[in-house]
Amino acid sequence: MTPLLRQVLSQIDGPDPRINEVVSALVSHLHAFVEEVRPTEREWAAGLGFLIDTGRACTPQRNEFILLSDMLGLTSAVDGVNNQGPEGMTPSSVEGPFHSPAPAREPGAWISHGPERSRGVPTVVHGRVLDCDGAPLPGATVDLWQAADTGLYDSQDITQTPGNLRGLFTTDADGRYWLRTIRPSSYPVPTDGTGGRLLHAVGRHPMRPAHLHLHVSAAGHRPLTTHVFMAGDPYLGSDAAYAVKDDLVRAPRERSDGAWGMDGPYEEIEFDLKLVPLTWQNEA
Ligand code: BEZ
Ligand code: FE
Repeated sequence: MTPLLRQVLSQIDGPDPRINEVVSALVSHLHAFVEEVRPTEREWAAGLGFLIDTGRACTPQRNEFILLSDMLGLTSAVDGVNNQGPEGMTPSSVEGPFHSPAPAREPGAWISHGPERSRGVPTVVHGRVLDCDGAPLPGATVDLWQAADTGLYDSQDITQTPGNLRGLFTTDADGRYWLRTIRPSSYPVPTDGTGGRLLHAVGRHPMRPAHLHLHVSAAGHRPLTTHVFMAGDPYLGSDAAYAVKDDLVRAPRERSDGAWGMDGPYEEIEFDLKLVPLTWQNEA
């Protein structure tokens, strides 16, 4: 340890021990980074300027810090240390920057209400919310959101009505939910801010594999934030947000049988969600 780092650490002594621990570890890692990388003063100023630009890019509708955290795999790392659970649980995944309150909708409602509906593949999404032993959880809420085929969420696109491609559903007595939408498409994360500059600088593409986002809540269970990804998507192995987990990938089934109130061909995605009881404790 350098004398300078020792001096900085010796002065960390606030009233909250957890803050002392976090700041000490952060400062230690940053000093180690400087020792290893030996940035020039110009490079260090450029790094600080990058953080200033990141702050300036943030608005009530856009959070460039979340985007950077996602693109560096840090959000997935934090998810990993916080969301362990028993065998059979549905894995969690990152929230991303585009969640907003969804309108409550009736079972089977369409969530696509713009021109994307006539361009997209009609799709039924359904499943059950269960505990990890397979018992149904009635009255659970499933909050679901997705981007249009243009790659934009309603909050990024003034041509979409607020609440488009979002819905809040409540499970029935068997824990079932279902809704109608269009098949999700792969799309690029926003590249017009510092996140885009970073991707460009390190030679990475900005694409996310096709997905739907879900927040699931049920009494007595840990709320779950997750995704369902479409099997066969070319970006499953190189998601810009590092959010893919094998157990979250589903192959849509092509159907044309008039079920689910659908006339004509459509696709079906079945996705059960298994929640972890609040009482669960990691025995490892
Ligand atoms: C998203 O899927 O909405 C998303 C996730 C991480 C970064 C950017 C977008
Ligand atoms: Fe998304």
